[in-house]
Formats: sequence, C-alpha cells, structure tokens
Amino acid sequence: MTNHVSVPDRSWWETAVGYEVYIRSFADGNGDGVGDLAGLTDRLDHLAWLGVDLVWITPFYPSPFADFGYDVADYTDIDPLFGDLDAFDAMVAKAHGLGLRIMVDVVPNHSSDQHPWFRDAASSVDSDKRDWYIWRDPAPDGGPPNNWITHFGGSAWTLDEASGQYYLHLFLPEQPDLNWANPAVGDAWEDILRFWLDRGVDGFRIDVTQGLAKDPEMRSNPELRSLVDGMSRNEQWDSFEHRYDIMQPETLDVFRRWRKLCEGYDAFLLGETYVLDTAALTHFLEPNDGIHRGFWFAPMHLQWSPEDVREVLEAPIDAVPAGIGWAMSSHDDPRAPGRYGDGELGANRALGLFTMFAGLPGTPFLYQGDELALVDGVVPPDRYQDPVVFRTGVATDSRDGCRTPIPWEPGSPMLGFSTADDGWLPMGGRTDADTVAVQRDDPEAFVHRMRAMLLARRELLSRGLLATQPVEWTDLGSDLVSYRRGDLHFVLNAGESALELSCDNEQVIFRTGDAEGLVAPGATSPAVGAGCSVGPGEAVILQSVMLQSSAADTRA
Ligand code: NOJ
Repeated sequence: MTNHVSVPDRSWWETAVGYEVYIRSFADGNGDGVGDLAGLTDRLDHLAWLGVDLVWITPFYPSPFADFGYDVADYTDIDPLFGDLDAFDAMVAKAHGLGLRIMVDVVPNHSSDQHPWFRDAASSVDSDKRDWYIWRDPAPDGGPPNNWITHFGGSAWTLDEASGQYYLHLFLPEQPDLNWANPAVGDAWEDILRFWLDRGVDGFRIDVTQGLAKDPEMRSNPELRSLVDGMSRNEQWDSFEHRYDIMQPETLDVFRRWRKLCEGYDAFLLGETYVLDTAALTHFLEPNDGIHRGFWFAPMHLQWSPEDVREVLEAPIDAVPAGIGWAMSSHDDPRAPGRYGDGELGANRALGLFTMFAGLPGTPFLYQGDELALVDGVVPPDRYQDPVVFRTGVATDSRDGCRTPIPWEPGSPMLGFSTADDGWLPMGGRTDADTVAVQRDDPEAFVHRMRAMLLARRELLSRGLLATQPVEWTDLGSDLVSYRRGDLHFVLNAGESALELSCDNEQVIFRTGDAEGLVAPGATSPAVGAGCSVGPGEAVILQSVMLQSSAADTRA
C-alpha cells in the first residue's frame, strides 16, 4: 500500500478517511444504466487521486431489490447486475494496488424473503430454519403480536396466511428479521464474514447495528403519541419509545465475537449505529471490545445554526471515546450542501464542516459526490424508485434525490455514468460543470478544495500533529466554532458574514476558501499576527507559531 499515513501505535483505520460508494449510481461498466463492479474498478483512480483511504461499497449481493440490495438473497455471492466474484476480486486487487482499502456492507438484521433460509422457514412450522426468523401467534384480537412499527412506517408484522403466524420485519415485509437469539444464526454469520475476509476485504459496514437482538418477551413499546395518517416515516418512528425493538444488550455479544474474528485479519468494524444520542452509541463500542467505531448521524439531520454545528461536533467527542464515523451525506438522507444553505454557501459550509470532522478523532466519510458539492438530483414522481415513498405516500420520504448517478464527463446524456441514454434513476438535472472531469480540469473547482483538505490532513498526520492530541474546545465568539488539538487550531465560521480572526501567536496554515496554506504545496501564508478574514462557511487551520516555523524548517 502506498497511500497510508503511518502513525506509530495506531491501527490503519484510526487515521483513514472513508468514501461511500452507492454502487448502483457510481459508474456503469456494461451500459445497462445501473452502476456495477466493473464501473467502480475503472473509476478507482479518481478515489486514489482524491486522497481517501477506505472505500465502503453498498450491497452487491444477489437480491430481488425490494430495498435496492439491502434485501439479500445470498450473502456470499454477487448479483449478476453488478458482476461476479471474479469482478469483485479484480476490484479488490486494483484497489489494494492503489493503496485503497475495501469495506463491504453486511446486512445481518434481516435477509430477503427470497433467501433460501426464509423460504425454508416459511415452508412449514416444522422447518429446521423456522427459528432462524421471528414468528409469533396473533394477539387475542387476531392482530399483530405487539405495537412495533417498521423504520419505513406501518406495522412491523406480516401475517403468513399458510401458518397463521406473523413474522417480524423492522423494514419491508420483503426483509424478514433474523432471529439472533438462535446460536445457529451467529455461526452462519461467522462463516459469511470469514468468506469476505478471506477474499481480502479490510472491514465491514454493519447495517442496522442497533437492531440485531430483540426483547425476548417481545413487549410493546411505550407509545409517545398516536399515529395519524400522512405521517412521514420518521414521524411514525418517533411516536414510540424504542425500548424493546432495538438497543438490546445481547447485541453487543454478537459484536464481541465479530471483533475477535476481525482482529485476526486487522479488519475494521464500523456500525450503522442509527441512534441520535451519544449514550446509546457507546453501547456497541464499550468496553472497547464491540465494534471499532459507529457512525454519528446528527450531522445528517443538522439544520444549520452555529449552536447546532457546535453541538453535533462536541457531543460525541467525550461521550464516545472509542470513536465515531463522521458523515454529512449518505444514500439515505438529503445531501449536505442543499441542507446547509443555498448555492455556494451550502457548498462552503459542507466543506468547512468536513474539515472540522477531519481534525477530530474518528473516521470521516465522504458520500460519493460530496467531493463535487452535489446537491440532491431532481427526480420527478413518475421516476420514484424508493419503496419508502410508496409505503408512506410522503414525497419527502423519497431517498431517490440523493441516489441519482454520479456525473463523470460532459458530452453524453448520462454524463459518463453510463453509455445508455437513461439510467435506473435520471441524472437529475446535473450540468457539465458538475462533472468530475470538468472540475478536475479547473484548479478553482470545488473538487480541488476538498482534495487539498484531505491531503493537508494526511500531511498533518504524518508530521505527528494530529495523532493522539486531546481535543480542547475554544471560545472565539458565537459564530465561530473552534477547537485545538495540540498546536493546531481548527476554526469554522458558522455564521452568515465574514469574521476577522486575530492570530497573535498563531498562523494560518490552511483555509478551505482557497485551499491555500503551508500544508498545500507551494502555497504561502499570511504574516504572523496579521489576522485573517474567514468567510461564511469557511474553515481555517492555524498552527502555533513556534511549532509551525520549526515544521517549516524540517521540510526545507
Ligand atoms: C440502512 C441502509 O442504509 C438503508 O438504505 C436500508 O434501507 C436499511 N438500512 C435497511 O437495510
């Protein structure tokens, strides 16, 4: 591997920057309008150039695609839509050759209803796979066994007419929940993880980390307010206190076993820990023998204000010492720049916030297109694909806008994503200026500012300035969010207008506004004590003067 920064006594994943590839929309190698492994392999050079270290690939397994691959029908193969195992091996080999690590997405909470395990389980109450899923008799009134609902709205129970029993699904009826109380499920999963580890993967993103174990008595959740028609999926979910369906202590036992297995391969476990309070997040990470890190989702829901920015950055630092995954966009939530402000302001804020992530402990993750400052693509209702919007009928529940294809090059209807004239989702109104090629050709374009920041981070790590130093929050005024790590000082202007910083004993070494600074090759920095203006959404990195000049000397 060539890319990685090595910091003594730190595991590789402790300093890595990740990048999420939503495979259906990344790059189409065979012209059928759907992204695939061959397309990804061809485009890996872009990721190496960008300066990320770790690539998370969303599910590519055989699937009926009721939830676009998060309904898995075979955990140890590739759906022909995406290629085959040889294409997977070729992708891993190329990635490793470029110094990129590969993390695959595992979906242990549920399978597809077309998985042979579930087909067998549903075939008879006497099937030896019956207890691999969660079946219950109806309530006395004939209705569902309890009041649990799915993350996508509606009851979490579907009646199986043949047996007269209900089965549980925290997502779609086509995604029945596995029964993790059955040890045979855990054994089967150990084999699945080993299969991918032996093929050379470097880690796993774990879907629905909080969901695996359920209350053994299957008690109803306390209801906080009544459900009414027209509620979005989140409004429905938030109508209950989720005391019994998720966050059960036995889930940690599963991850203890996974951690032991992964340690033998130096592999990284990162959870999709979809809980918004830090105490809940620590549950899977403590006492440091569960998963290595868990995603922190607050930035995905952030409505921009200086107070809220400060809160989402500060909250997990002391509360989750094992470390979090930082992300601002994903294939499940609206893209960050559009959420954080209009036009250039939103883009600047997204880069400024990501710079703040990059200086804190944890693993920062870009979602494909974050490096281009993409906002959500426009998807007309007659092109909706997301099953959630069909279930709730609430347009804002559609996850299609953040899943439109990546624009690579100008000059064709699908802007280099595919040779087809259309894709599984439309391009969504992208222009030539959005494409990777046009941005890479323009030194002023957003992609260069994002790249400069990632390379600056690497440089600071390799100088030992951003390794184990504790985080100390500083107070520079209400619109400035800031912290020190050792001799570095990260400052974000979260307000609406430019602010002047006085830099008496510090010097600007990097700024997101123009990617200039001592850590950008060949760049200059303002004179000591001159102060500097920080634009709205801009982040700067300052370094205490003594250390900065000695670092400059060392480089000379
Ligand atoms: C989280 C995934 O990110 C999402 O896309 C999926 O619908 C659910 N888990 C269910 O697997």
